[in-house]
Amino acid sequence: MRLKGKNIILGITGSIAAYKAAYLLRLLVKEGAEVQVVITPAGKEFITPVTLSALSNKPVISEFFGANDGTWNSHVDLGLWANLMVVAPATAATIAKMAHGVADNMLITTYMSAKCPVMVAPAMDLDMFAHPSTGENLKILQSYGNIIVEPQEGALASGLEGKGRMEEPEQILEVIVNSVIRKKKLLNRTFLVTAGPTHEKIDPVRFIGNYSSGKMGYAIAESLANEGAEVKLVSGPVGITTQNNNIEVIQVESASQMYEACHNYYPNCDGAVMAAAVADYTPSTPRAEKVKKTRDNLEIKLKPTEDIAASLGKIKANHQILVGFALETNDEYANATKKMEKKNLDFIVLNSLNDVGAGFGVDTNKVTFIDRGNIHQDFELKGKEEVADDIVDKIVTLLS
Ligand code: CTP
Repeated sequence: MRLKGKNIILGITGSIAAYKAAYLLRLLVKEGAEVQVVITPAGKEFITPVTLSALSNKPVISEFFGANDGTWNSHVDLGLWANLMVVAPATAATIAKMAHGVADNMLITTYMSAKCPVMVAPAMDLDMFAHPSTGENLKILQSYGNIIVEPQEGALASGLEGKGRMEEPEQILEVIVNSVIRKKKLLNRTFLVTAGPTHEKIDPVRFIGNYSSGKMGYAIAESLANEGAEVKLVSGPVGITTQNNNIEVIQVESASQMYEACHNYYPNCDGAVMAAAVADYTPSTPRAEKVKKTRDNLEIKLKPTEDIAASLGKIKANHQILVGFALETNDEYANATKKMEKKNLDFIVLNSLNDVGAGFGVDTNKVTFIDRGNIHQDFELKGKEEVADDIVDKIVTLLS
């Protein structure tokens, strides 16, 4: 009974996969949830409300108004009652209406009034799923914080084969239990994350930069936010957008701007993860005008930048966590341990450039955590999102 005491709205729309919603409903009820079915008019063409009300032990809601008896269904009350809303199956039309606030049926008004997490399990023909409008609308739903349960590949009702089959009810149930109902571990916590490269101006049109893509830092910000934390993401110039609304992005360009922003936010944070590849040197005197080409060699004098992580280490309070990265090519463990101690970090995430698939530009990373107890934790090569989850797990352990 993993969902005992939970109130769930199950939204059903007009798709062949509506029959699977009956199985999902039965699984939810079996796990102890109280379920209110809200079905669209088209949904009723695919599955009868009698089946659904028998399985949920409640009348099914479809229309705004009762049958000529002066009553109406309050989507506002429903939205407040629910701990979770699941739209399964979600057709392309319903996804589009949810994305754009087309509140012309009870399901959409309920969605717009819902204060709880919302999950969407799309079901449609492969071409409709592959259409750019569906992709864009799903991205919009993600930007609202809604959770998308990806459809699967396989035989479709149209007779075609491809991606568009609604995920199986058993799998949807697991997503519900694991990601939505699970208690978020960093609620009411605030974290600072740095990400990306810095650009150090040579003149108005040129800079010194590095190959950092920002992917690791952005993944950490998403993972912290998924655990309920509010995140201040101080980002150098990268082309990535954030998904979770709990992330505030503070765009900076240079190491000195990143330093300023970090010192502005860190005192009010529970911790910081320093994932940016900050330039160690910056031109001593950036030119106000574009440097002109001559036949002579050009020398650019550089001066050291501030070490942001070390400067936060100096002001770190007892309750605060500070995590850094070390990108090393030789004597990896010794160098990383030295860095951790010098910068007063709680633990350091070591990347070795000797590992294939680790470091800049790629979607994967292979890391070792080294902490103050000199404990080394080696991880497999994984996607950066999973590495981010491991880092956040370690932070949660340290905070508790
Ligand atoms: N860092 C920082 N500010 C800097 C340089 C580094 O905050 N000016 C942070 C990085 O975000 C990372 C950690 O310090 O978390 C280690 O960065 P790295 O470049 O590996 O170490 P450095 O101290 O610069 O040492 P070196 O380049 O000599 O290896």
